[in-house]
Amino acid sequence: MINIGDLKIKSNFLLAPMSGVTDYPNREIVKKFEPGLVFSEMIASRALLSQNEKTLKMIKKTDNYISAIQLAGCDAKIMGEASKICENSGADIIDINMGCPVKKVVNGFAGSALMKNEGLATKILESVTRSVNIPVTLKMRKGWDDNSLNAPNIAKIAENCGIKMITIHGRTRCQMYKGRSDWKFVKNVKRSVKIPVLVNGDITNNKSLKEALRDSEADGAMIGRGSYGRPWIFQELNSDTPLKINNSFKKDIILNHLQLSLEHYGKEIGLKSFRKHLGWYSKSIINSNEFRSKINQCTDEVKLKYLINDFF
Ligand SMILES: Cc1cc2nc3c(=O)[nH]c(=O)nc-3n(C[C@H](O)[C@H](O)[C@H](O)COP(=O)(O)O)c2cc1C
Repeated sequence: MINIGDLKIKSNFLLAPMSGVTDYPNREIVKKFEPGLVFSEMIASRALLSQNEKTLKMIKKTDNYISAIQLAGCDAKIMGEASKICENSGADIIDINMGCPVKKVVNGFAGSALMKNEGLATKILESVTRSVNIPVTLKMRKGWDDNSLNAPNIAKIAENCGIKMITIHGRTRCQMYKGRSDWKFVKNVKRSVKIPVLVNGDITNNKSLKEALRDSEADGAMIGRGSYGRPWIFQELNSDTPLKINNSFKKDIILNHLQLSLEHYGKEIGLKSFRKHLGWYSKSIINSNEFRSKINQCTDEVKLKYLINDFF
């Protein structure tokens, strides 16, 4: 089992932070299947400081479960202040984003752009670790591009700053999501620090988990897209056994997820934001294309529940 600072987590397999996916309703569903902990979506530190209502909603604490809030930004002072807000809102861990490859984020020198500027990255790591009493973790990629694979170096800097765990997505920023996650590279990070290191990227079942852990020598793994429409993947990974999920079980999960979404966002946004999850839940079931085209046009909660009951 991994210790993140003083926190002991029960499973070494964690839900990855994903913008537009790992919102409060999703985290509430995934936690039923016992990942080591759940991560929020990436939160813009500046927006948090300005008390932006939508942003404050994004840091809602997952009930009775170890939860990390991930912060993005490039101003050390603002990142420190934002981390304090998260700690006060009940976060158990602050995670710093140095992996996001999206243009809008890296053009503002945040996300994976920080890997190109180790000086600024250090200032941010120092500021956040000094600002809070809870453990701070870091998520990053291999480096900016193939000519700058500096994750092992940043990992050492991070450990010296008091970071308690590091996750490596085995791609460079310039790769975005192309190619395969380089699990073997993660070994270079693992060997450069004493704190726990997690491997991330392209882990979707027990087989790929085993290979990723073997190749990376990592202490655990973080799973993102492999949990799309399959929140029970964490139970499968924890027990090393694939689960047989029948449609009735799936339907209960889906209706629960929908209800949480409606309560969290209200009807209009709740229905809209739930569609992608419903698409994932119904993937590879016979007639799912037809089902998806129906749900994408549906704006009525009662009708949507009827369609779900009917399909599953
Ligand atoms: C839709 C989407 C949103 C993401 N948002 C974030 C984010 O907010 N913060 C972050 O560190 N990584 C983010 N990622 C990257 C994932 O956390 C993860 O590193 C990546 O998807 C590789 O892991 P996987 O193959 O298990 O999905 C996102 C990925 C996807 C697909």
